[in-house]
Amino acid sequence: MSGMEGTISERGRAIAQTSLKARLQPLLSDLYDARDNPGGIVDMGTAENHIMTKDVSDFANRKIRTSSKTFTYGEGPWGSKRLRIAMADHMNKYFHPVSTVQPEDLVFANGITSLCELFGYAMGEEGDGILISRPCYQAFIADFGAKAKIKCVFVPSDGIDQFSAEIVEAYETALLRARAEGTNVRALLLCNPHNPLGRCYPLETIKALMQLCQKHRLHLLSDEVYALSVFDNSDPAAVQFTSVLSFDSTPYISPNYLHVVYGFSKDFAAGGLRLGCIYSRNTALMDTISAITQFSWSGPLNQLFAAEMLEDTEWLDEFFTKSQSVLKERNEKCRTVLEEYGIEYAHGANAGFFLWINLRPYLDLSTHPDEKQAENALVAKMEKEKIYLTQGTLLQTEQIGWFRIIYAQEDEVLEEGFRRLFLAIGAEKI
Ligand SMILES: Cc1ncc(COP(=O)(O)O)c(C=O)c1O
Repeated sequence: MSGMEGTISERGRAIAQTSLKARLQPLLSDLYDARDNPGGIVDMGTAENHIMTKDVSDFANRKIRTSSKTFTYGEGPWGSKRLRIAMADHMNKYFHPVSTVQPEDLVFANGITSLCELFGYAMGEEGDGILISRPCYQAFIADFGAKAKIKCVFVPSDGIDQFSAEIVEAYETALLRARAEGTNVRALLLCNPHNPLGRCYPLETIKALMQLCQKHRLHLLSDEVYALSVFDNSDPAAVQFTSVLSFDSTPYISPNYLHVVYGFSKDFAAGGLRLGCIYSRNTALMDTISAITQFSWSGPLNQLFAAEMLEDTEWLDEFFTKSQSVLKERNEKCRTVLEEYGIEYAHGANAGFFLWINLRPYLDLSTHPDEKQAENALVAKMEKEKIYLTQGTLLQTEQIGWFRIIYAQEDEVLEEGFRRLFLAIGAEKI
């Protein structure tokens, strides 16, 4: 132990182990740019809509007028009244809720990342669990675990389609096993549309999961951050998005147990805004989250900009139409390229910015019989060619060798990314 380690707490040491800095800082500080940094790393791993960010930036340059009030503490961390009204209007327009969303049903914080932590802290005790299907968005583990100390209890699908209602049995088995092993499972996370699979849950499955939650008194947190990043896909496996707010859920789950998180990072192509909200009718939960949201505060300038975007409904309609058509086009392009190289991908994806692809045939299992080591060796080859994809083990994959690839990129970046990827793994056109 170095002298310095003794100067920090046990919990500080534990949390330092989970830091993303060592892995992400080298990537994020050396990003590829065709003109300014052609030797940089092509990032096909971070889930951002790189095509729409310019529209956001142009809008900001045109619209934002600050006043001295913008640089005060404003109305506090919960979200200004203006922002909560604008977001409630937005959700009432696009989520088709059966009960009108009211501004007071929303609490804001600096992103869903923080809201997961705040939700975890408010609904569970240290060591309690939340059910999550596999594969999943990797940050949920730290979002719930790092400070709120809520454990992710992963639900294996073991060959069952995790979007079918049949999967409910697997959730219940995982729940009972976790409880038998001493983890008090308190919630279920529904990521709909799903990251990394890019699929939406059919209504029947959502209802069945709600019933399971009701039976075992679990909260259902629905992460709908990709709700408007859904596009047409001729794939027969593709299912349209259904928000948990869009049908009468009271026969299946008590409103006290049903919550939604939503934000600006995906549909609004503004991850750097660091802004998201939680919707809930459970006032005890919302009061608890409100009591600690000052540690996860998004400033008035961000809130002002978000309100401007939400209030310009004409601009926003056009923005979403463009975004969905661009995502559809990139998704098709990405699938075509993968097919040309004989690379398998998971079907039915009609949402988000990504495809879940099978690079298992490129694992060198003769040199690395341990599959995880083989996956790491493949990642090392990608690092050498300066191409970054998210590896499946980080996303709790059930089968090693699957990766998530982000296609919401400018043409030129997509082409360069694929060129480097195929070079790194040794893939050839079939
Ligand atoms: C499903 C999902 N939820 C939440 C987030 C993070 O949201 P935020 O930027 O609002 O913290 C991401 C980002 O990739 C995501 O994919």
